[in-house]
Amino acid sequence: MIRIRTLIFAALLAVIWPLQISASDSTLERWPEGDHIRVHDPLGLAAEEAEKIYDTLLDRMVAGYAKSGLDHVDYRAWRRLNRAPYISDQHGARFVNVYINDVAVDFFSASDEQQMAVGSVVIKDSISAVESGGIARGPLFIMEKMPAGFAPDFGDWRYTMIMPNGKLFGMTGGTGSRSVEFCGECHLQVAPRDHLFELPEEYLKTAE
Ligand code: HEC
Repeated sequence: MIRIRTLIFAALLAVIWPLQISASDSTLERWPEGDHIRVHDPLGLAAEEAEKIYDTLLDRMVAGYAKSGLDHVDYRAWRRLNRAPYISDQHGARFVNVYINDVAVDFFSASDEQQMAVGSVVIKDSISAVESGGIARGPLFIMEKMPAGFAPDFGDWRYTMIMPNGKLFGMTGGTGSRSVEFCGECHLQVAPRDHLFELPEEYLKTAE
């Protein structure tokens, strides 16, 4: 009996599995070369599919951010903390990825007592997805730890947001400073972790 059931199961798998693969392949094929990608149900994308889309977009995302002429906009060689893009409701229904520079090694142990070192940079890039099916490059979010006294109420973090075309939306203490005040205010919720939110555990890279 067991063998028959196993056989039936294997036969079913053999039929279903290729169907699934060809479904995602054809989705891939239909992606045009431009910046905008259209997929069915983007907010329900599986992690692997989101990762494939991210792969195709990353270089163009960085090229866009680089037009700002600002520092830290090419973070591709940095340590990425998540294994696939995950949806961040807090940054406007976007798939996001988080990277840290060499100085930000204490990301996971940051606390009131152990603040991040000056020069730590945490980057979050984003892909925006809307329910109608459109997927496009999203803004870049940067947190940089500045010397004590820079912004004492906000852990001395400098918040920057850069639009996908390289336009600077705002930077604490610089152009558009007021437009990024809301960043620090929301991140106050996690002041005891040096203003850093945790990433969803199921998306964390393991073995690093
Ligand atoms: C309404 C709350 C809220 C606002 C406003 C907000 N953030 Fe965040 N931010 C979060 C949350 C929650 C996370 C972690 C989980 C996630 O991505 O959803 C996060 C994560 C981050 C990270 C990754 C480091 C970390 O804390 O995990 C960066 C960098 C970041 N935000 C930058 C910004 C910048 C720059 C702005 C303003 C343009 C901003 N944020 C505005 C809530 C917010």
